[in-house]
Amino acid sequence: MEKSFNCIGSKEERYEALIPQLKSLLNTETDQIANYANVSAALKEVFDFLWVGFYRVSNKVLVLGPFQGPIACTRIAFGKGVCGFAWQEGKTVIVPDVDQFPGHIACSSRSKSEIVVPVVKEANIIAVLDVDSELLNNFDEIDAKYLEIICALLS
Ligand code: SME
Repeated sequence: MEKSFNCIGSKEERYEALIPQLKSLLNTETDQIANYANVSAALKEVFDFLWVGFYRVSNKVLVLGPFQGPIACTRIAFGKGVCGFAWQEGKTVIVPDVDQFPGHIACSSRSKSEIVVPVVKEANIIAVLDVDSELLNNFDEIDAKYLEIICALLS
């Protein structure tokens, strides 16, 4: 099964093309890990982000899940780093410049900006989607809107 993704055009166009493809991919699979893996791969392919992946809530800590990109830290405590902060706040966090975010956890020195979106199931945060870019200020409300739609497909 080969999927071809739209890797050209504006980011809205890419997300708009990607979401129906992800819907059909995710609707046919109930395994969470499998779905996180395919979402990571699809986002990486379409946008060529530095790092795309999930941290799952497990025993009150975020534990590294499926991802694409350089190796990453495996555990993040509640409230720590951008991921732990998004988990604590229960909302999407956009960091235009990671060096300006107190407590940012640098898994790769190449990461310059970041967005973290909670995955919510039955009112509980079960994971976060973390996306890192090598470009400063690479994420905005458009990314937040579409990545939240994608995370909602996972819940
Ligand atoms: N920068 C994240 C840590 C995870 S990595 O970027 C893959 C943070 O501050 O939570």
